[in-house]
Amino acid sequence: MAELDIIVAPDPRLKKRAEPVEKVDDEVRRIMDDMLDTMYAANGIGLAGPQVGISKRIIVVDVSREGDGPKPMQMANPEVIWESEDERVYEEGCLSLPEHYAEVVRPEAVKIRYLDRENEIRTIEADDILATCIQHEIDHLDGVLFVDHISSLKRNMIIKKLQKFKKQQAAEAAPA
Ligand code: NI
Repeated sequence: MAELDIIVAPDPRLKKRAEPVEKVDDEVRRIMDDMLDTMYAANGIGLAGPQVGISKRIIVVDVSREGDGPKPMQMANPEVIWESEDERVYEEGCLSLPEHYAEVVRPEAVKIRYLDRENEIRTIEADDILATCIQHEIDHLDGVLFVDHISSLKRNMIIKKLQKFKKQQAAEAAPA
């Protein structure tokens, strides 16, 4: 298992629609495991393929609380097949938008169909933070970031700050 580099926005790779997984095989399982490692190392609760430069419809999620023990979920081709009319506001963050947060409104509960590690079709119902997290990760597969759900004013402010942050990082990494 290996840790992968997480892409920070703005980046065209985060805006691309990811390709469906044909079959969950050893290669896909390895990607899923590497993504979980990467997510845990970064203290995240979810990660999507495009965030690590893999344009495939794969997400990993773990919203368990500290002390509860890990509850990793690995999904290929996840899709929302039902969503509640009730909505929920949650302050979201993203490993690709480090240190930025904003309130996002989404359906409170969803039903998701996906392929599991064994390439079996599964359906789950999720609510609360799990529903929010899975919807956030599926958005990534369609090139959508949480800031695309907020006002353009606030979005532009965050993107500008991230641009600056990336420039600084690149300058620090470059030899003098
Ligand atoms: Ni994210």
